[in-house]
Amino acid sequence: MKKLSTPVFKRQDIQYFEQLNQTLINEGHGMPRLLVDLDRLDHNLNQLKQHWPEGIDFRLVVKSLPCIELIRYITSQLDTSKFMAFHLPFLCQISHEFPDSDILIGKPFPIAAVEHFYNHMALEASSFDSETQLHWLVDTPQRLTQYLNFAQKSGMPLSINIELDIGLHRGGVDKETTLDVMLTAIRNHPKWLKFSGFMGYDAHVGKLPGWLESTSQSYQASQDRYQVFIDYARRYFSDLITEDTLYNGAGSPTIELHKQNTVCNDLSAGSALVKPSHFDLPLLSGYQPASFIASPIIKQLDRMKLPAPDWISRVLQRLDRRFQQTFFVYGGDWKADLIDHRLRKNPLYGSSANQEIINGSKQVMLTPDDHIFWRPQQSEAVFLQFGDIYAIRNKQLAHRWQVLDQAF
Ligand SMILES: Cc1ncc(COP(=O)(O)O)c(C=O)c1O
Repeated sequence: MKKLSTPVFKRQDIQYFEQLNQTLINEGHGMPRLLVDLDRLDHNLNQLKQHWPEGIDFRLVVKSLPCIELIRYITSQLDTSKFMAFHLPFLCQISHEFPDSDILIGKPFPIAAVEHFYNHMALEASSFDSETQLHWLVDTPQRLTQYLNFAQKSGMPLSINIELDIGLHRGGVDKETTLDVMLTAIRNHPKWLKFSGFMGYDAHVGKLPGWLESTSQSYQASQDRYQVFIDYARRYFSDLITEDTLYNGAGSPTIELHKQNTVCNDLSAGSALVKPSHFDLPLLSGYQPASFIASPIIKQLDRMKLPAPDWISRVLQRLDRRFQQTFFVYGGDWKADLIDHRLRKNPLYGSSANQEIINGSKQVMLTPDDHIFWRPQQSEAVFLQFGDIYAIRNKQLAHRWQVLDQAF
């Protein structure tokens, strides 16, 4: 994907992170933390809402914001109770915490995970009705047979959403003949299977160099492909189609394109709301980075001294001023980028998840107990690595929010 260059670290950014540093020194617990800035999140929520197309629903991608209170905040601002879930423990927690929600599974689950879910639900006293509120994603006729067998065996009717390949080539139905087989199977078993609709993800759009295919060309091609499947279902399986049939699409990289024109009636996204660095894309230029890692400095050395012949350190210092001093921070090795361009990782010393080495130029005036700030490259894995999320409002700690439980 065409990426914008890393945003320049400006004077106001320095002030912003100095204030966050002070907040964390006052209120922090001396450990690495994941911060979500609610003021910046609000900006992104407004950006998403701006020009939102009439009659199209928004569905929040749970894995990209894996924290109940954060999700509660976002869904109340966006007035949605629709979710896309990708992980069985998250599915269980969301269906429990949001019993009125509508949940679309974002990838085909092994049948064992489906069984596991119903075993878990059997133990839960919840008003969540999986027959109508949960849509399982199915990619092949073989998996559909597994799901049908399970439905018959367990006496549990299933709502089935079909994954389409509209150009990403990550699996899913890519031919009308396959779709025909699957919709026929659903039609033939109305007691056990209900057709919920389609999910077609288009994260490939905008990834090719412009000279090979422009973003608008690949978007149009994926939309045309989606429309072929919708037309086929409407023409030959109109008995399965209702006004509630879902045509789900998008994701953060293409959500702004769908807002302008889409064949879908249900659009999902998550990451753009906190904008990790992998989402520094031209189409998301109106969104602000809203999540940061803060890691306390535990040691500071006023030079770089590698465990190697001294001349190597001297040569590196000549090549790059950012080797002038050394910090060791609490934790490290995250999927994340340093924010201050006067700092850098050390390619020779290597990374450590325990105490990572960071080098910096003499201009950086940080000492032990100050924090070094990073931007997560993606939210889904990184958000789960720090315990409670620190929600920041007006550069002060506003809430500590528990992240979703990974284990089951
Ligand atoms: C099927 C599907 N829809 C939507 C998304 C978008 O999620 P996000 O907006 O967090 O990138 C993803 C991400 O993996 C996905 O797999």
